[in-house]
Formats: sequence, C-alpha cells, structure tokens
Amino acid sequence: MAEDFEVKLEKKAYIPAPHYLANSALGNYKEAYNKFTSDPDGFWDEKARELKWMRPWEKVREWNHPYARWFTSAKLNITENCLDRHVNNGRRNKLAIIWRGEDGREEVLTYRQLYRSVMRFANALKSLGVQKGDRICFYMPFVPEHVVAILACARIGAIHSIVYAGFGAEALHSRIRDANAKIVITADVGKRRGKTIPLKSIVDDAVRNAPSVEKVIVLCREKCPLELYSELEVDFYGIQEGMSDECPAEEMDAEDPLFILYTSGTTGSAKGIVHACGGYMVGTHYTCKYIFDIKENDVYWCSADPGWITGHSYIVYGPLSVGATVVITETTPDYPDYGVWWSIIEEFGVSIFYTAPTAIRMFMRVGEEWPNKYDLSSLRIIGSVGEPLNPEAFEWYYRVIGKNRCPILDTWWQTETGMHMITTPLGMPMKPGFAGVPIPGVFADVVDKDGNPVPAGQGGLLVIKGPWPSMMRTVYNNDERYRKYWTQIKDYYTVGDLAVKDDDGYIMILGRSDDIIIVAGHNLGTAEVESALVEHEAVAEAAVIGVPDDIKGQAVKAFVTLVQGYEPSQKLVSELTYHVRMSIGPIAMPNAIEFMDKLPKTRSGKIMRRLLKAKEMGIDPGDISTLEE
Ligand code: WT7
Repeated sequence: MAEDFEVKLEKKAYIPAPHYLANSALGNYKEAYNKFTSDPDGFWDEKARELKWMRPWEKVREWNHPYARWFTSAKLNITENCLDRHVNNGRRNKLAIIWRGEDGREEVLTYRQLYRSVMRFANALKSLGVQKGDRICFYMPFVPEHVVAILACARIGAIHSIVYAGFGAEALHSRIRDANAKIVITADVGKRRGKTIPLKSIVDDAVRNAPSVEKVIVLCREKCPLELYSELEVDFYGIQEGMSDECPAEEMDAEDPLFILYTSGTTGSAKGIVHACGGYMVGTHYTCKYIFDIKENDVYWCSADPGWITGHSYIVYGPLSVGATVVITETTPDYPDYGVWWSIIEEFGVSIFYTAPTAIRMFMRVGEEWPNKYDLSSLRIIGSVGEPLNPEAFEWYYRVIGKNRCPILDTWWQTETGMHMITTPLGMPMKPGFAGVPIPGVFADVVDKDGNPVPAGQGGLLVIKGPWPSMMRTVYNNDERYRKYWTQIKDYYTVGDLAVKDDDGYIMILGRSDDIIIVAGHNLGTAEVESALVEHEAVAEAAVIGVPDDIKGQAVKAFVTLVQGYEPSQKLVSELTYHVRMSIGPIAMPNAIEFMDKLPKTRSGKIMRRLLKAKEMGIDPGDISTLEE
C-alpha cells in the first residue's frame, strides 16, 4: 500500500512537430479539457451525437454512486456504427480488415464484406437458438472469423465473453461456468511460433461439467471438414450454409450489456467485467477519433489479441466505429524472426502502431538491426499500453521505431475503464516515464488513503472521479466486488495503481498497489496462481510475488510449503511449473519456485507477500508488526 514516499522526477521532455497539433481532431488539450470541466454532460452529449442511434437519450447520465446510467432510454446497436454507417457513407469498398497469418497467408475484408459476413453469421447464431442476452464464450485464434463472430454477437444482442486462447482448460471452464455460456466458439487449432495448438481439445476438457453449453461452434482451419464427433459440435461455415446475409440490428438499450470480459482479481476467481452498449461505444469511438487521431487514410495496427480489453476496444469496436483500416495478425513478435512485425509495418504501410512495453523491451534486447532492415516511414503515431513504459524503453521506441518523429501515446487505462484515461495527447510535450494527463472527459488524481490529493513529487494512489461513459457497470454475478472499487477511498473509483504527479500535472504510473502481477502486459492475480499451485497434491501452501524481469516487466516467483512426506526436488519444480501452465496458461508459469518450511503470515492469517518481496529484492521490509510469531 502507499505509504508516503518521494519520487525523483525526470525533467526531460520531447516536443512533437507542430503539424501534429495543427491537424489533430482534439486540438489544444487545455481548451478541450476546460470545455469538458465547464460542462461534462454537454461534452459527452456532443461526442455521442457523432454516432448513429436508433433513439436519442433523455438524459446524458444518471449518477447514483456507485451506479451510472449513460444515455438513458437511448437505443442503438454498436454494429450499425461499425458497419452500416460506413457501408452507407462511402466506405463500402474500403478495407476494414487486413489479416496476416504466421505462415504469411493473407486475407482482406472490405467494410461491405465484413458487414455481409457478420450478418450471415448472426443469422446462423439465431438458427442455433441464440437470443438477446445469451452468453457466448470465445476461445479463438486471431483470424478474421474471430472479428466476424464478435460483431455477430453484438448484432443480435448476445453477450460475448472472450477468453484468450493462451489460457488453459480450467481457466476456460470456470469462465464458461460463471457466465453460464450457451455457446462456445472455437477453432480446431491455433498457430504459434510454428507450432499447432489444439484448441478444440482444450475446449473438450473445458465444456465437461458445463451443462449450460448447448453447442460448440468449431472453425476448421486444418482439414475440412473436421470430424465433429459429438452432437454438441457444429461447423463454423456449415451452420452458415443457406443463411441470408441480411440481418437487422437488434435494438439495444444503452445500458444493456455488450460483453463480459474476465480479468484477474486480487482475491479468488477472475472477475467478469461487464460493459454496456451505449457508453462503451461512445468512449471507444471518442478515444479512437480524438486521442489516436485516426484519420481516413490511416492504416492502424494494434498488436494485442481480442482476448484482452485492448483487443475489444482498440482492435474491434473503436477502430471500426471510426471506419479505419485495421491490420490484424496471428503473429508473435519473434517468429520466424525479430523482423516480422517491422516487415508488416513496411508491407501494409501501417501509420498508427499500438503495442506493449514488454514487446518493446524484447526488441531493445535483440538489437536495432532488426527494425533497421525495414522502411518504417509510414508510421505517424506509436502507442503503448499495459504497463509503465520506462524511460529507457521510451527513448528506444521514440528513436528506433518513431525515428525521433512520431509522438508516443503511452495510454493508461484498464479492463474496467473500457477506454483510454490518461495519456499525452498529440502536440503536448512528452515526458519519458510519464503516461501523461487525464484526457478530456476524465477526472484523475493522485491521493493518499483518505482521499486527500498529495503534493507533486509524492507518491500516492491513482483515483478517478466518476462517472465516465465506458466505465464497467458491474462484476458479473458479483456486484459486491463492483461496489468495492468505489467505496475504498471516498467517492472515488480506486484504480489499484500507485502513481505520482509532477508540477505540470503529468502522471507517472508506478505499478500496482495490490496483489496483481503484470507479466508481459497480462494481468495475473496472485490468488489465481496460488490456487493452481495448491491444487497439486504435494503443495500445502503457496505464495507468489512479482519480481522484476528485463523483458516481461515482471515474472512470477512462487514460494511453497510441502505436504508431509514430499521432499523438494528439481522434478517437483518442473511438475509444479507444468501444472500451473496447464491450469492457467503459459503466462502464469513461475520463473522460480522456492520451497519453504513456513510462509510469513499476519496474525490474522494473511500471507505477507510484501515480506517475501522485500527479502527477494534485498530491501527493507518496512513495518512487520502484524507478522505472526
Ligand atoms: C493495469 C490494467 C488497458 C489494457 C491493458 C491492461 C497497468 C495499463 C498502463 C500504462 C502503466 C499501465 C496498470 C493498470 N497499465 N496501461 N500505460 N502505464 N501501467 O489492462 O489487464 O485491465 O490491467 O495495467 O497497472 O491498472 P488490465
């Protein structure tokens, strides 16, 4: 937790070329921000009017702490904004999606083709009995069909819950169970670093004892048709045969849920973050247009996966709502070599590129000769998200990728916030290490645990003063966990990050204040990894912490005590590591496992991870008065 501490702030700043500001949709930041603060509802009213609605709102918002309703009584369908609007307004033959597979295969979809494919698949879903409000769980590789299926759910008002296809069967199972999913959509295989990952066999395990699942839709990539041996399974294209490619958009209330996305919690199971149709649409459209500044001729590429919120907001909904050409790929940054991403930028003429610090740090380590082999002159703006972009990584990204020319948008936000919240809008001086300022539309501050703002240079807790349109509405099946975000510090939304402000109001994010570990940009709860470890028969208790890692930002280190009769061994280390891999996925695999006789605990029985961490890093453990004997 945040005790008071001083932070040394770097003073260096980079000034972007004047044309960035001159041509930006947002314009002068201070002016835009003042306009927002003088009339927050008017600000969002104006932004919402840029979109297509079936029925206008009565009130911009209703705020009944901690519950918000945005655009009350308004009706819409987000796909009308991502598809119909463009097809009917001159973007019919514009490329919506450019896909590149790991093996170099390519596919493209114009807005018209995407529109037709979405409607055809939407009709197929309907023919399986899917109705508005039903939950559909995804476990898909990143192929164009993934985007088609997401939008098809939205078209008919089904709620998607996308599970990253790197997660293991157990993580998938618990998410299917929690959401009571009626349908699971998957593929026979995914491709990763030249290997074929058998996704469907993981789904086979995950749907066992998941009685809500009525059908598993399987996209066959390898051999067609795949043998669909159980009566549960249907073929992705088979169910579309004879289907009309005309499907009216379901009329959704602005507050109807659009999707659930599970994210790690500090205690217990993953939290199903619920986003609502209207506010989410406005927030992602607004930030794509005014923060990313996506223009008609931009070629936009975000290297995330749809399994994360970044993929939801900034691959699918946001960029398509502004009518962008979006590059998507199934590639990893290092296969077949470290040049593959730069070759994609060169080949497709990517002008806006959005990635994560973990990737940037990996590229730094392997050397600039890789990006230097390619022509990156098409780039206009480069972005970062997921963890703090440390000054060294900033400098490298700015110089080697941005050629001292492209502004860096280091965007701070969360699954829960739905959209960008803090960044350095185009035209403003960029300070390495600082994400930037709250964007117009957002009130953010750094406070102490009682909610009092802390002076510049002093560390504290990052909070948001709500509400904002794209905020989560609840935690699925667990509204109490939702309320917790809003009741820890005064009326603020507590983010769970430590931060510090400088004299100009720029915010530097220092990392999590709670038990979340961010590995390569993926948010892991200590509790999740610990519970996977204790599932193993040899493990009595487990504690995991995040330790600094040059590439991944943080890595998982586990401390375990063993059940009587078991002895520490290298074999057991491998077994436990493998076990975590199978139950949660490769990102959760501990880098090191240490066997202990006993774990440090508070008198109330809580494991003191802080102490383990202090010991690991050779720092002063601080207050240990609550430590048990
Ligand atoms: C946590 C949210 C938003 C999509 C990716 C992660 C950290 C995110 C930044 C940034 C410093 C960042 C925070 C935050 N984080 N962006 N630009 N600078 N830290 O979404 O899994 O919900 O994780 O990621 O700690 O709280 P998420």
